[in-house]
Amino acid sequence: MRVGVLTGGGDCPGLNAVIRAVVRRAERHYGDSLIGFRDGWKGVIEGNTQTLDVEACRGILPKGGTILGSSRTNPYKLDGAVDEVVATLKRVEVDALIAIGGEDTLGVAHKLESSGVKVVGVPKTIDNDLSATEVTFGFHTAVQIATDAIDRLHTTAESHDRVMVCEVMGRHAGWIATYAGIAGGAAEVLVPEEEFDIDEVCDFLKRRHSQGRFASIVVVAEGAKPKEGTLALASGEKDAFGHVRRGGIGTVLAEEIEKRTGFETRVTILGHIQRGGTPTAFDRVLATRFGVAAIDAVHDGAFDQMVALQGGQIVRVTLEAAVGQLKTVDPDLVHVAEVFFG
Ligand code: F6P
Repeated sequence: MRVGVLTGGGDCPGLNAVIRAVVRRAERHYGDSLIGFRDGWKGVIEGNTQTLDVEACRGILPKGGTILGSSRTNPYKLDGAVDEVVATLKRVEVDALIAIGGEDTLGVAHKLESSGVKVVGVPKTIDNDLSATEVTFGFHTAVQIATDAIDRLHTTAESHDRVMVCEVMGRHAGWIATYAGIAGGAAEVLVPEEEFDIDEVCDFLKRRHSQGRFASIVVVAEGAKPKEGTLALASGEKDAFGHVRRGGIGTVLAEEIEKRTGFETRVTILGHIQRGGTPTAFDRVLATRFGVAAIDAVHDGAFDQMVALQGGQIVRVTLEAAVGQLKTVDPDLVHVAEVFFG
């Protein structure tokens, strides 16, 4: 068989581990030939390919990013692009595709089914917000990076009696914020799942500081929203999938906390540091399991499906189910974080 591989959407530590596992299993077990598409769906539209074999994958396991490049190109937003996708796959004689991506990349994969394109999906996002899988690779790495940052913020916050606001990624779900907040001992965690009240946040901090604590860490997910009419936020531009570009809530929050409480407050926006660098061992193992399972799914003809982790086992779910629903933070976990607020 000839199998194409692409990585789409925001990059994520562990992508290279998936690619390496797909290639190794495909070549050595099935005798397949592979072809890489550059920059997600963009490479398929434009016919931009790259050699993909065991040799090309040497040394990539611990490397962040993706050797195939990535983009947020959406063929359904570009005139004639879906026809180009079909034409490219025919021209380079690809029998099936493995698409590694989040809800947007996999949403495109599902739509392409009706054009006869055979795709198996691999879930990817540091945000961990895909409902059909217990966890996505990249998430643990992002949480570890955020936790390390919070540990460092604690010591400088304590030296200066400051409030430190730490903004982490998570535009629709607060998984990174909640995990890193618990792991890092945050005094408050603000997530997109529940609108926050700035008065309450400040009252909480005042109460804490009146009880003899003079340093506090507030972790805020980039998609956290204040209750309507309480705090003005700048509106961001949208990407090709219609998502508003986030980032900046931390700055607004820090200014407001300082103004309302009188506590000196600083902000750290972790941004893309959370997506860069080497994946944790957990993410490398999960990514490798997904890669092996994906090429096995191709050979079983399990198209329009995605590999997923459920109950610790790798399973297959339909792409439709995989991209249909957002996985928001488990309320039980929020409950645990709240025990340590204030
Ligand atoms: O979807 C993953 C993610 O890292 C989000 O947490 C974040 O909002 C977004 O990507 C940032 O996208 P970009 O790299 O295109 O700015």
